[in-house]
Amino acid sequence: MHQKIAIITGSSSGIGKAFLELVAGDKGEYFKTPFDEIWAVARRRDALEEIAASVNGVKVVPVAADLSDNSGIKIIEDKLKAEEPVVGLLINSAGMGIKGTVMEKTAEALDNTIRINCSALSQMIRITVPYMKPLDNTKAKIINIASSAGFLPQPGFACYAASKSYVISFSRAMGCELKSSGIDVMAVCPGPVATDFQRRATEGKQADFTDWRKNFVIDPVSLSKKSLKASLKGRRMLVYPFSQKLLHLASKIVPISWILAFESKSL
Ligand SMILES: NC(=O)c1ccc[n+]([C@@H]2O[C@H](COP(=O)([O-])OP(=O)(O)OC[C@H]3O[C@@H](n4cnc5c(N)ncnc54)[C@H](OP(=O)(O)O)[C@@H]3O)[C@@H](O)[C@H]2O)c1
Repeated sequence: MHQKIAIITGSSSGIGKAFLELVAGDKGEYFKTPFDEIWAVARRRDALEEIAASVNGVKVVPVAADLSDNSGIKIIEDKLKAEEPVVGLLINSAGMGIKGTVMEKTAEALDNTIRINCSALSQMIRITVPYMKPLDNTKAKIINIASSAGFLPQPGFACYAASKSYVISFSRAMGCELKSSGIDVMAVCPGPVATDFQRRATEGKQADFTDWRKNFVIDPVSLSKKSLKASLKGRRMLVYPFSQKLLHLASKIVPISWILAFESKSL
């Protein structure tokens, strides 16, 4: 008997952890029947084990893997080949970004951003799709966590913003490629979210958003709820909250030179 599973990357903290707790505790609000297992993927095994022990409901299987490296992807690929589960949900939430100009950055910081945000997300889809099937008459779902940073170039966070443009573009194209396979693909584009992301992005210098973005911070639990609901409705893209919809609109109608001039003031 094939296990029905969900896979969530980046589930040791923040948005991925919020998704994990939501899906594990789901009593039919989102999925008609519970998954047999959720594979929780991230590097920090201790954090994953702690979360797995604290979660009530579905069994959570910690899978420690560094997705910046092909060997990390292979760990998941080998596990899929060995267990041949049916995957009803894949959430790609693992991600990173280091603030600062490109010339201030190390080669490793640039490389890791592209590897985790773009390559790993693409590879996770490539290795998981062969195991994805509709469950209980509900299409299989892929949810990719992009960002409103992907709407526009961002001087001072250039590599991160470009990597999230990739996620939006890739998700849209994959949605078309996988349409006939019974798999929906959705990109989620939040603004600032209250997680460890900011502390990591500033290499520990700032725990929270401090500039004008602080007025728009949302919590990861409301984001995960909104995202699952949108995905189950078959949406291709979720821009949340409303402030980010305005930013999205502005990115389409305001001349890019004006936006870049405004953004460059904070360099
Ligand atoms: N917070 C925000 O303001 C915000 C806004 C828009 C979009 N996002 C996006 O949301 C996603 C989740 O971020 P978050 O806010 O939840 O931040 P977070 O709390 O820092 O979570 C990042 C997750 O990614 C995992 N990860 C990082 N590098 C990894 C690697 N090499 N291999 C495997 N896993 C790795 C981390 O786990 P380990 O450290 O255990 O590996 C952690 O679970 C990211 O894609 C981020 O770009 C965040």
